[in-house]
Amino acid sequence: MYGFVGTGEITAAIVAGLSTGVADPPAVLLSPRGRDVGRELASRFPNVRVCESNQGVLDSATVIVLAVRPPMAQDVLAELSFQPRHVVLSALAGVRLEQLRHWAAPAGQVVRVIPLPQAAQGQSLTAICPDNAVARELFDRVGGVVVANEEKTLDAFSAATATFAAHLDYLTTIAEWLAGQGIEHDAATAYVTHIFGQLGQSLSQHTGPLAELTEKHMTPGGINEQLMTDLRREGVPDLVRHALDRVLARLQG
Ligand SMILES: NC(=O)c1ccc[n+]([C@@H]2O[C@H](COP(=O)([O-])OP(=O)(O)OC[C@H]3O[C@@H](n4cnc5c(N)ncnc54)[C@H](OP(=O)(O)O)[C@@H]3O)[C@@H](O)[C@H]2O)c1
Repeated sequence: MYGFVGTGEITAAIVAGLSTGVADPPAVLLSPRGRDVGRELASRFPNVRVCESNQGVLDSATVIVLAVRPPMAQDVLAELSFQPRHVVLSALAGVRLEQLRHWAAPAGQVVRVIPLPQAAQGQSLTAICPDNAVARELFDRVGGVVVANEEKTLDAFSAATATFAAHLDYLTTIAEWLAGQGIEHDAATAYVTHIFGQLGQSLSQHTGPLAELTEKHMTPGGINEQLMTDLRREGVPDLVRHALDRVLARLQG
């Protein structure tokens, strides 16, 4: 049985992944806040139930996924009574293991995890720290795990996930530029969504260095090479590296 404290976006994704198309899905208990999400999950999946209180989740489940927003974590945890039997899997971005162990004492095991929204489709490669059999068992069900042996390594994985919105914003820039060339706005968006969706599929099937895939999409002297060289000359890779450094510094407090 898995308990979730915090029933928002990421919980909905993990619970959908745990419950969809599985012959014998695990029982799932949800905390009561996030009413619409909880109600929707409970009506879609017979293995899911919404509890009366956050403590009700802890009283019935041993494995607890923490998925409230980081600023409210301390207040939420302060009201809960953990037991040594509890295994706490914290999705809270940037909240250190030491802090979590203190807030969730005397929980027996505390693990940080970085689930991805693709858990809903069973496709979240979830970074975990430290290695933990219970975390592996849960997140193997929704796409697999990558183990960070040190917390600073987990922070680096976390920083890498901070790039999604900027990546989508880059695609928005391309779509808007295309619309500016006189192409109808919806058609421009659909075109950009299609070409990058296809690129994403090539990416997910690719195993070697990324530079190999870059080469495949580039004719020497061609227009892909021109745009990439232009952006590199303008300092885009350095800007990205520096922004990632700043995210990492924030995550490490
Ligand atoms: N979204 C992602 O892709 C993602 C990925 C990895 C990690 N995370 C982490 O996961 C956590 C949740 O993110 P999210 O995007 O799922 O946020 P979210 O959609 O805002 O969900 C947070 C949920 O917590 C509920 N909540 C608020 N106060 C509560 C309380 N006192 N007790 C129990 N639940 C309470 C909220 O309920 P109400 O709606 O009633 O306020 C809401 O349903 C964050 O710490 C984030 O860093 C998110």
